[in-house]
Amino acid sequence: MRTEQSKTIYLKDYQAPDYLIDETHLTFELFEDHTQVHAQLVMRRNPALSAELPALVLDGQQLELLELKLDDRELGAGDYQLTDSTLTVQPTQASFVIDSTVRIHPESNTALEGLYKSSGMFCTQCEAEGFRKITYYLDRPDVMSSFTTTLSGDKQKYPILLSNGNPVASGEEGDGRHWATWEDPFKKPAYLFALVAGDLWCVEDTFTTISARNVTLRIYVEPENIDKVQHAMDSLKKSMKWDEEVYGREYDLDIFMIVAVNDFNMGAMENKGLNIFNSSAVLARAETATDAAHQRVEAIVAHEYFHNWSGNRVTCRDWFQLSLKEGFTVFRDAAFSADMNSATVKRMQDVAYLRTHQFAEDAGPMAHPVRPDAYMEISNFYTLTIYEKGSEVLRMIHTLLGAEAFRKGSDLYFERHDGQAVTCDDFVKAMEDASGIDLTQFKRWYTQAGTPRLAVSDSYDAAAKTYTLTFTQSCPETPGQSESSKLPFVIPVELGLLDAQGNDLPLRLQDEAAAGSNRVLSVTEAQQSFTFVDVAEKPLPSLLRGFSAPVKLSFAYDRDQLMFLMQHDSDGFNRWEAGQQLSVQVLQELIGQHQRGEALVLDARLVSALRTLLQDDTLDQAMVAEMLSLPGEAYLTEISDVADVDAIHGAREFARQQLADALFEPLWQRYQANREVSRNTPYVAEAEHFARRALQNIALSYLMLGDKPEVLAAALDQFENSDNMTERLTALAVLVNSPFEAERSKALEAFAEQFKDNALVMDQWFSVQAASTLPGGLARVQALMEHPAFTLKNPNKVRALIGAFAGQNLVNFHAIDGSGYRFLADQVIVLNALNPQIASRLLAPLTRWRKYGAERQELMKAELERILASGELSPDVYEVVSKSLA
Ligand code: ARG
Ligand code: ZN
Repeated sequence: MRTEQSKTIYLKDYQAPDYLIDETHLTFELFEDHTQVHAQLVMRRNPALSAELPALVLDGQQLELLELKLDDRELGAGDYQLTDSTLTVQPTQASFVIDSTVRIHPESNTALEGLYKSSGMFCTQCEAEGFRKITYYLDRPDVMSSFTTTLSGDKQKYPILLSNGNPVASGEEGDGRHWATWEDPFKKPAYLFALVAGDLWCVEDTFTTISARNVTLRIYVEPENIDKVQHAMDSLKKSMKWDEEVYGREYDLDIFMIVAVNDFNMGAMENKGLNIFNSSAVLARAETATDAAHQRVEAIVAHEYFHNWSGNRVTCRDWFQLSLKEGFTVFRDAAFSADMNSATVKRMQDVAYLRTHQFAEDAGPMAHPVRPDAYMEISNFYTLTIYEKGSEVLRMIHTLLGAEAFRKGSDLYFERHDGQAVTCDDFVKAMEDASGIDLTQFKRWYTQAGTPRLAVSDSYDAAAKTYTLTFTQSCPETPGQSESSKLPFVIPVELGLLDAQGNDLPLRLQDEAAAGSNRVLSVTEAQQSFTFVDVAEKPLPSLLRGFSAPVKLSFAYDRDQLMFLMQHDSDGFNRWEAGQQLSVQVLQELIGQHQRGEALVLDARLVSALRTLLQDDTLDQAMVAEMLSLPGEAYLTEISDVADVDAIHGAREFARQQLADALFEPLWQRYQANREVSRNTPYVAEAEHFARRALQNIALSYLMLGDKPEVLAAALDQFENSDNMTERLTALAVLVNSPFEAERSKALEAFAEQFKDNALVMDQWFSVQAASTLPGGLARVQALMEHPAFTLKNPNKVRALIGAFAGQNLVNFHAIDGSGYRFLADQVIVLNALNPQIASRLLAPLTRWRKYGAERQELMKAELERILASGELSPDVYEVVSKSLA
């Protein structure tokens, strides 16, 4: 597999395509043991280039060429050249037609890229470079064509035949087969092509657009899942409305379809008019999906729908620009979710996720800028940096420009570039042109990798009544970019200053007239000071409100100041943030005690801060739930210089136990009150209900640490007598992590028996066990791999069991005998041959070896080396392993 494909591709080498494809006419004949694909490409020399006619090099992989014609002339073996990834032909005129017929094997495609089969149905995944596994083509996003697609197959097995655009014709073939033709009038790159054939049912609805056009909406699923699509349908309609209202974007075809498939490498895919989704991102109903799953469905449905404009109508010129569509679309879906639910809670969750996972990526061997300069395998660059940090970059533009100018910029971008394949620079230019703001320096966020550090110090001059904040920024070295080569970023710092009562002071900088109480400072220099005047008393700063920039901020708060901010900050996000910082300080102190072999002593201030929150029933319950959640072990790892796995786990568990004991009364009271409401309220997937269950469930997870019989009884009752998966799964999780062995195995058995036919619920069942930090984790995971519901061929299963073990069960995965590492490497080696994309993602935890002590470093490196030496590596795995050993 590792041939010339592990070459590095550079942005600086970008060249416009030699030829364009105006029309693509495809015919698929689907059979059980092969599929035959005929492609007719109406092509011409790129008019922007010279009149010469260079050789035409089409992309194609794993294709068996049966026939090739140039303008109706049959080409013989001497008329073209084939390699394992290209087909080269010499055109003789500026305009010409290529006809090719190939045979492919979707029935044995386990990589789930190109055309493949999932649970008996045919489906496709073409982004980024899967179309070349379907037919010979110019498989690059700046080649945009209209598509006509005809598919034919067995009528009984595949009654539903779908592709992009509008259905234009269909018929019978007489031999038990039938066909359908679809036409997509919008020019698109091949990565947005899709096809589906299967025995599917659909739920249908309609949406009337702002200009009164009726759009048919269909969600296709396997028949047994037809009762689990209403939530996705509701989410879709909300998304369509929101995009009209907030971005002025109207849907453009007469039909919009979503298809759920069980075997899918990612969350979902925005193919024009025919989104294909991982079933985990579509199916949701109370009995089988948690609140988090409901929110994830809503967010992913929105994300893929929003791509219709940010991605499809305006697409990427090349894959280095991936964040142009992904960062923008994540920014859009985050704003949508914030509007549908609680904006502050959404922000807290996004920031916790970013700081835990994207910051770790930024500090690791695969760190890359939001717009990378080079890659070996583009599939490896569907990263947290492209998506989440990309979204943060857009959020900063929004902060710097303000909502109104940002909207003008986005309108200009869509108008100027509709139907084009463009770059991140084009996007920023539209923002600059619409706002009059120069973003030249800001664009460093696109080119410099790594998470900037922002150190802040203050000084108060009582006589002059001035208060000065001094910011110092730097950015650590990342692969190919030394620390000294990095130039200062533009860092928008939203802030307020609190007086002794906790009220926001008016903020006026020297030489300024007006004063507000919350404002954004643009930090643009390596070191920069801002002086506020007329400050009557020494204030306490509330910095980086709403997490206004993706940086590591440091300011020397003491614990009393953090407690003060927790109670008084007018910014809800920063109240939570103060609590997180307080917890981090307390936990780091415990980690130190653990490492020195001292007795652990929990700072009582954390107990009292959380008690205050629990006793205040005027607070948003979701916020209280988030504030009760201590920073995770993965985050504590990320912020350590050398992560001591056992000390981190020991310290955090000690703190949880202490909090559970000290706060038993208020936790028990809030648990019982909320459980009572849950018991008497039918399930509703809305923010206020999510909030109640979130607090109820975090309370239960603390309470269970107390080994009290009344709590065990409550957990069992919640497990047995809930109408929804949110309560049931939490009850199962607390039992699985408890010392009550009999209850634990009984619950696990009952759950598996009840849900054995529901793959997505069984994924939860695997995950809960894989994440259990009780000793013997690896043995449990190995035993579960033998379970009949487990298979390495399904990415959701791999993530649920192996991914959860390596990513969430840190004490067991990092066992000092290296057994967890060995196990993960073994799975990566098997998956490398089966599904390279999944293999390369699964191995991420091993690439973080530099974070750990010498003993673990050696063990982790040895496993990476073993993978490297294991034989033919896919470009996906080769790139990640070789870069992490470099
Ligand atoms: N564009 C899809 C999204 O909306 C993801 C496709 C990822 N494909 C891949 N091969 N990694 O996020
Ligand atoms: Zn996307």
